[in-house]
Amino acid sequence: MSKIAVTNIGQLVTLTPLADEKRLTNISREDLGCIDSAWMTISAGKVEASGTGELPSQYKGIETYDAQQNLVTPGFIDCHTHPVFAGNRSQEFCQRLDGSTYQEIAEKGGGIKFTRRATLEASKERLIKLTESQIDKFLKCGTTAIEAKSGYGLTVDSEIKLLEVLAHIKQLSPIHLETTCLALHAVPDEFTSKQQFITEMTDKLLPIVAKRKLAKWVDAFLEKGYFSKVEVIPFLRKAKQLNLGIRLHIDEFTDQEGGTLAASHGAITADHCEHTSVEGILAMAKTGTISVLLPGTSLYTKIPFANAKLFTENNCPVALASDYNPGSCRFYNLGFIATLGALHNGLSMAEAFAAITYVAAAALDIHHKKGSLAPGFDADFLVLPYPNLSDWLADAGQQLPKEVFIEGKNIYLR
Ligand code: NIG
Ligand code: FE
Repeated sequence: MSKIAVTNIGQLVTLTPLADEKRLTNISREDLGCIDSAWMTISAGKVEASGTGELPSQYKGIETYDAQQNLVTPGFIDCHTHPVFAGNRSQEFCQRLDGSTYQEIAEKGGGIKFTRRATLEASKERLIKLTESQIDKFLKCGTTAIEAKSGYGLTVDSEIKLLEVLAHIKQLSPIHLETTCLALHAVPDEFTSKQQFITEMTDKLLPIVAKRKLAKWVDAFLEKGYFSKVEVIPFLRKAKQLNLGIRLHIDEFTDQEGGTLAASHGAITADHCEHTSVEGILAMAKTGTISVLLPGTSLYTKIPFANAKLFTENNCPVALASDYNPGSCRFYNLGFIATLGALHNGLSMAEAFAAITYVAAAALDIHHKKGSLAPGFDADFLVLPYPNLSDWLADAGQQLPKEVFIEGKNIYLR
C-alpha cells in the first residue's frame, strides 16, 4: 500500500501521551497531544509520523492530501450500540413527551418487547439492509469503529440470526465492528418462567456463540423488572468458562449493585451507571472495569445523568457512547454525545474527547491499534470543518466530517 501525506492541518489531535503510557485516567489537555499547523504521514494504512510546519523534504513527491487548515482527529469509537433491529418506536418518544416513563411504556408491552416482535418478523436479508443503513449514519458522523449488540431476538435461533447479521456487516463494511451477545435483555412473553429463559440462553445459546465465535462478549440488563444480580451470575460464570468477555448494562434506573457485580466478574465495561454507588465505582476502579456513560439516553428518556466526577476522581476510566437503539436513544453523532458528556456528565474537553476515542478503544480492547494517531496506530482519522478541538466541542459536532479515513483509505467523500 502506498504512502500518503496529510498536509496543511490546522490542528492535529494525536492522543499520543495516552497511547504511549496506555493510560485511561487523569486525563488533561496535554494528553490530547495537539499539534498546530501540522502534517502527518501514513504508510500501509498506519500512521508513520507527524510534526509541525512544512512537510519534511524526505516525504516530498508522495501523494498528498491538503487538509486546508481543518481539524484532524482519530476516528470516533462508539463502544455501545444496538444497531440490529426492525420497527419504529417514535410513538413512544411522543408518549414520553406526554408524561409516560420508559418503564411504564415497557410494562404495557412497548420498549424492548415491541422491537423484538418487529425484529422477529424481519428476514435476515432485511435486517442486513436495515443494519447497513444504521452503519452508514455512524460513518457519516465520523464513527470508524463500533461495538454492536444483539438482544432483540431473545430465542436461541433468533439471537444467532442477529449475530450472523453483524458477522455479515463486518465482512462488508469498512467500519471496524466488535460484537456482543446481549442474551439477557428482557424476558420474552412466551416464557412463563424467567429462570427457564435464563437457563436456555446460558446453556444453549452461549456454547454456540463461543464455538462459532459469533461474539467477543456477553451482556445483560441488570435492572429492576429485568434481571437481578443473583439471576445473572450463572450466565456470567458460563460466559467466563467459554472464554467470552463480559460487559453489563448496570444501574440505569436504580442501584442494583452493578459496579461490584461487574468488578467481581472481571467485566471489561459497565455501562449506563446513572445510579452506581461510590462503593461500586471504587470496586470498578480497582479491577480496571471501564465505565461507559451514555448521556444521549439520559437526555432522550429524561433520566438523571451519571456524575462523571465520581468516576474520574476515584480513578475509574470513563468512556462515552451513544447507546444507539430504537427506543431509549436515537442519537448517533458522537460529536454531540461528547458535548453532552461535557455539559451534563461533567467531563472536561480532554476527558470527553478521550472518552470517544482512546478510552472507548480500550473499552473494546483495541487500544493497541485504534483510538490514537500515534505512530504505528491504524490511520483511522477524520477531517473536521473546525479550526481546533475547542471549536468542535463548542459546536457539538453539528458539522459532519469532510472526509473519513479508515486504515488510510478515504471511505466517505462528500
Ligand atoms: O441500553 N437498557 C437496556 N437496553 C437499551 C434500550 C433498549 C430499548 O429500549 O430498545 C439501553 O438503553
Ligand atoms: Fe444499551
